[in-house]
Amino acid sequence: MATQTTNTRGNWNSKLGFVLAAAGSAVGLGNIWRFPTVMAENGGAAFLLVYALLVFIIGYPVMVAELSIGRSSKKNPVGAFRALSNSKFFPIVGFWCVLCGIAILSFYVIVAGWTLSYFFEQIFHYAGMMEAAQWISALDNGLLNATVAIIFMALTVWIILGGVSDGIERTVKFLMPLLLIVMVIMIVYVLFQPGAGEGIRVYLVPDFSAIDGDLILSALGQAFFSLSLGMGALITYGSYLSRKENIPEVGGYVTFADIGIAFLAGLLIMPAIFMAQAQGVEVFNEDGSLFAGVALIFQILPELFHNMGGVIGLIFGATFFLLLSIAALTSSISLLEVPTSYVIDEHKVRRKRAAIYVGSAVTVISIVIAFDTSLIGTIDFIFSDIGLPLGGLMMCIFLGYVWKMERAKDELRQGFENVDNSKFFPVWSIFIRFICPALIILILSMTVYNAVT
Ligand code: PHE
Repeated sequence: MATQTTNTRGNWNSKLGFVLAAAGSAVGLGNIWRFPTVMAENGGAAFLLVYALLVFIIGYPVMVAELSIGRSSKKNPVGAFRALSNSKFFPIVGFWCVLCGIAILSFYVIVAGWTLSYFFEQIFHYAGMMEAAQWISALDNGLLNATVAIIFMALTVWIILGGVSDGIERTVKFLMPLLLIVMVIMIVYVLFQPGAGEGIRVYLVPDFSAIDGDLILSALGQAFFSLSLGMGALITYGSYLSRKENIPEVGGYVTFADIGIAFLAGLLIMPAIFMAQAQGVEVFNEDGSLFAGVALIFQILPELFHNMGGVIGLIFGATFFLLLSIAALTSSISLLEVPTSYVIDEHKVRRKRAAIYVGSAVTVISIVIAFDTSLIGTIDFIFSDIGLPLGGLMMCIFLGYVWKMERAKDELRQGFENVDNSKFFPVWSIFIRFICPALIILILSMTVYNAVT
């Protein structure tokens, strides 16, 4: 379905292209690395249940909000808030969004770079080049971290340079289905291995007593991060969306794609954790808790692939880390697109220049972080845990009380003619004005409370 455009601003070539690009933004390290880990630490199936619920209660309504703001204004977050209101305050919120994008991208490229490192680690290990394998997988080597981050950033900039439809859309159209296919094959393999049954049980049989404040808080945070909400990534992607498209419908596809890939990632990694344990890999810490975060993917899984041995181990190991790099790349594209479109729109810089300027500036920050990776936790906390929910809260307030629901309805009507008679609008309106802001304020206060106590 080709789109007509009267201005020179980029547009998605097709509905599928948009859905894949937005889903590519949502699906990333957050799903495949963060989600299974947070879940394993939070009672498995119980977490999955709460997370899924929150994705639909908060994630989906905020996603429709971001897409509406983006498509109506056809602008980056700063320009969007300025175009849709006279407010002096909200463009500052837009600027905060751009800042969050820059900050998250600065450490995201490092972790994404590690997935590239481990891709090569698997190859070196197979080839018997043990020293090279060890060298490339040393996550405390600052020079190596900086190098892989620069490589990953260069890849990201290279795709962004192609512009909206030629660069981003064409790339994800090919990469997203590939991701899905490879994951499904790996899941089938893992499910037939010894130890997998216990992982499946923990993943799918809920222990309701595990649901507590911490679990809900983690599930809320994960929903926000995973759907790429709160920093205008979907305002920006929405700004390239055709007025023929039904926003609640395409937002629904993206939400399902995100939760679907997260579910599959869990289905792959939960059994893998227990498989690894059955093979003698250290899975739990001394206090009985699971190896967390970085350790889960970068320590347990490579070991598991080595234990598989031979060509099978190489194929699965190398494919997995390549797959993770691909997922990270389609997310880092959207992280870079936010500040880039800001520079293009607001400072009248051409796309090529803007992408290279922003990419280089962020790389400077990444290089600093590469030499002190403990900064990742701090930056992640400020800009992901606090920044994204804050941004999301502001978007709800902006849409519900400044731009107003009626104008959002006019925007939705384009591509969704039946909006006036549908049940969607009144329900969404209640979520945007009351339920989402209340819940987000709750997340924020709980996060801050937990941090200071
Ligand atoms: N959603 C991405 C992931 O899960 C991360 C991201 C956050 C991307 C915010 C864009 C904006 O990895």
